[in-house]
Amino acid sequence: MNKPYTAEHALVRGVAVRASLLKAASAVCAAAALAFAVQSAHAADASNGKVLADSHNCAACHGVNLNKPVSPEYPKLAGQHADYVFWALRQYQMGNGNVNFGRSNPIMQAQVQSLSERDLKDLAAYVESLKGDLVEKK
Ligand code: HEC
Repeated sequence: MNKPYTAEHALVRGVAVRASLLKAASAVCAAAALAFAVQSAHAADASNGKVLADSHNCAACHGVNLNKPVSPEYPKLAGQHADYVFWALRQYQMGNGNVNFGRSNPIMQAQVQSLSERDLKDLAAYVESLKGDLVEKK
């Protein structure tokens, strides 16, 4: 027997429509995630990082190839993971007045204040690319 159009039909149709909307939405999300991945892959440019490190004179404190600090209170940087370096630099930027989220160090804060997020990523990629002698002492 042919049933008239019922609330049940409407419900089933609604679910189908919602499912296809969801599919479309997740396709959009996947595309966005991909675009983001591509963008962050492009963001790290170690050669631009070197240009920035030279023009900002990072070696004045962190030493030749950022591996021979001029004083023991300046850390060795060469070879450190880019992710770590990026977040360290970002934290110095945020440090001012944000003790929970940032690193409060007036010296480093001054070094990174004018740099963009992309600059920080490029610097981080450069630091990671350097051969360093940070070692675990046995
Ligand atoms: C005037 C000296 C000076 C200059 C110039 C300088 N730094 Fe620093 N840097 C420091 C000091 C001091 C610290 C340690 C700060 C602290 O105690 O948090 C530091 C810490 C860092 C750290 C954190 C390291 C870690 O292991 O957590 C990074 C990364 C860094 N500097 C990168 C840079 C970069 C990149 C530049 C150039 C844009 C630069 N520094 C320029 C003095 C300097």
